[in-house]
Amino acid sequence: MSSQNIYILAIESSCDDTAAAVMLNGKILTNIVASQKIHEDYGGVVPELASRAHQQNIVPVVDQALKQAKIERSQLSAIAFTRGPGLMGSLLVGTSFAKSLAYGLGIPLIDVNHMQAHILAHFIEEEDFTKPPFPFLAMTISGGHTQIVKVNSYFDMEVIGETIDDAVGEAFDKSGKILGLGYPAGPEIDRRAKMGNPKAFKFTKPKVNGLDFSFSGLKTAILYFIQREVKLNPNFIVENLNDICASIQYTIIGILMDKLKLASKQTGIRHIAIGGGVSANSGIRKALKNGEQKFGWTTYVPKFEYTTDNAAMIAIVGYLKFLEGDYADQSIMASARLKF
Ligand code: KG4
Ligand code: ZN
Repeated sequence: MSSQNIYILAIESSCDDTAAAVMLNGKILTNIVASQKIHEDYGGVVPELASRAHQQNIVPVVDQALKQAKIERSQLSAIAFTRGPGLMGSLLVGTSFAKSLAYGLGIPLIDVNHMQAHILAHFIEEEDFTKPPFPFLAMTISGGHTQIVKVNSYFDMEVIGETIDDAVGEAFDKSGKILGLGYPAGPEIDRRAKMGNPKAFKFTKPKVNGLDFSFSGLKTAILYFIQREVKLNPNFIVENLNDICASIQYTIIGILMDKLKLASKQTGIRHIAIGGGVSANSGIRKALKNGEQKFGWTTYVPKFEYTTDNAAMIAIVGYLKFLEGDYADQSIMASARLKF
């Protein structure tokens, strides 16, 4: 057995978080995220502002990750970076930075698929967290993604269902916007849902065949419902906010759980892992726990800091690829629509 220490520096810049992490042999030493507050004023991510903010943040964020880990650049074994999918301008900042750093240090460069990283975050070495056994189902739910993936091994993954329009996080955020809540509205809807009646208002679930999702119809249904009610009672939102939030959350979770149940039934797989910012939602966590009792599932939820966009998840993929000698070369380009 080699006792060599493998240090990976990972960089993530696919959307609106500039992140860097340092990993030693599969364990996270530092995990730094600079979230871009600037988008809050716009109610969504503005791509042009995101890439500019990445340019400002990337050097200090990487610096901090290395300093806090107390390691020198010369100790690094490889640089891992998010190649895609994501916003092109944002990806370009991380990609060019990673390429030049790897070139300058003369060490391997490792490209990482952001969606695979959300899933492989479950393999970061952490005490008190059990890793899912292969094969398992992974549901990635965030502001940018909604997928169900059959994971056969680290790098053999198959997308078996995904959204045909909005991501589930967008469903939360856009509903929140209609209600006049700040951006992102997911956490606020979650907080209010706990105090409301989930059956107060009923929204029809979209009819999408198979394992795919659709959320744009729900958003429109909520908009029309609110407009209708506000016409009758201008104070409708204020007077019913908790119930409205609870009902919206109940509907969204119902949509997710229906597809997850179907996926589990179709594949016969009962190990279920989730990832992405929406996995912080207390309702979805409760629904998964219910699934353990009702359907014999074993469910896996990573540490919160590894579910939202972060570089620790990029580092674990970098580490696993490093062990296989799977490197990129300097001709590699960012890819906004990168597939598995
Ligand atoms: O993974 P993430 O930080 O970034 C990407 O979008 O990739 O996810 C952010 C999304 C936002 O849409 C936010 O509203 C949602 O996750 N979110 C939540 C909760 N916490 C974050 N949605 C529902 N309930 C929550 N507790
Ligand atoms: Zn993400």
